[in-house]
Amino acid sequence: MHEHSPQGLFRSRRAGSPSSHSKVPSWLLHEQGSEEGWAKTEPAPARPVEEEYIKDFINSPQRKALSTPSFLVVSGSQGIGKSTMLNNLMCEHVKNGKKVLPLKMSSRPGEDLKLNEALPKALQAVNLSRYHLEQVEYMLERVNETSKRRTGSAVVVYLQLTTKSRGDKFSRDACDDIASTLGAFARNITYDKAACKFILEVSVSAVADIIKERFNMSDLVLVRPLPFEDFTSVVKEVAKQGNGFGTLNKVLADDKVAEVLKYYYIRAGGNFRDLGEILRNVSGEGQKGADAVIERVEQWYMRRVEPIQRKLDDQEVKDYLLKVAEADPMGYLPKSDKDTKMALKLLREEPADCTLRSTTSETVALKHWHFVAKLFQEDEQKLRDAGCM
Ligand SMILES: Nc1ncnc2c1ncn2[C@@H]1O[C@H](COP(=O)(O)OP(=O)(O)OP(=O)(O)O)[C@@H](O)[C@H]1O
Ligand SMILES: [Mg+2]
Repeated sequence: MHEHSPQGLFRSRRAGSPSSHSKVPSWLLHEQGSEEGWAKTEPAPARPVEEEYIKDFINSPQRKALSTPSFLVVSGSQGIGKSTMLNNLMCEHVKNGKKVLPLKMSSRPGEDLKLNEALPKALQAVNLSRYHLEQVEYMLERVNETSKRRTGSAVVVYLQLTTKSRGDKFSRDACDDIASTLGAFARNITYDKAACKFILEVSVSAVADIIKERFNMSDLVLVRPLPFEDFTSVVKEVAKQGNGFGTLNKVLADDKVAEVLKYYYIRAGGNFRDLGEILRNVSGEGQKGADAVIERVEQWYMRRVEPIQRKLDDQEVKDYLLKVAEADPMGYLPKSDKDTKMALKLLREEPADCTLRSTTSETVALKHWHFVAKLFQEDEQKLRDAGCM
């Protein structure tokens, strides 16, 4: 499946400084006060399926047919590179002379999303200050018209919704509230009024799932973890450039890197962020060597699997999870009443950091399937069978 050479993985898609795009109005490159953030992109291995789908969406004529989604929700496990991929795609779009309006928001359980402030502020920052905040749809329509006239394409609003603190637990009700607010907002600006293209990145998977279920004009793009080989290439390449993972070469000798990354990947999959954190912690405490890193990985891993481990005391849950783990990497299951009931039960218990996620209304998938596979002592072989290693 992934036949490209490690070198071929990296595309040079650095956007350069915003001012270097003479034809592109600079406001479209700004990330609410930070030019740096938007222009800086990481070397990115191809995620052909996800990227193709998103490109088709942003390049298709606005509201072509009812069968085309009017907005996209991009979801996937935390820290696997959703924002990195989307930032790169948006940079490419802007380089092609198109317009993108990036927005960043964070949420916390129980806190209202201030959508009606964020978008107008971003629009005002692009020189529409003569309008009032209530006129957000109108402002967006104006921007969209200008964009279409000048570039032939609708403006793409890319909203990154992150959680304020990664430890935050979102109850099913909190996910429900966020999904309703976001979904209604997105439907309004893209479907009721064709005022932009809209891409919404959410890191709480339950929110993405609820939007997909309730708003049938939307579509869900699930970003999959990179296979082990690609994951390793990215980490090594980034470490070599001295960017993120800069501590990798400080704490590990060259001949230990492969072994440690494999140990990590079997437990954490393609989660880049937590690897960075683990390495920084080891380095911060003045430790080094494979054993020190592996010990940290193990601690991190035990914290993550503990809730699943507790569930395994219930034989019915255990049988179900085993079945899901055997299904495939994303744990797709055929629909049966009993399975659906069990999935819902687990979702209700733990919607945020949930063991389970439904990727479409018809299927149920295991989010951290490899954790479960590991608990059943099938780790590496399971990943191999699934083509991840
Ligand atoms: N292709 C890549 N090359 C280099 N670093 C990467 C790559 N993908 C991800 N990273 C690094 O991993 C970290 C997490 O990536 P990113 O923020 O894109 O993940 P995410 O899936 O959007 O996370 P979240 O769920 O929190 O939104 C970042 O620090 C980023 O620099
Ligand atoms: Mg992100």
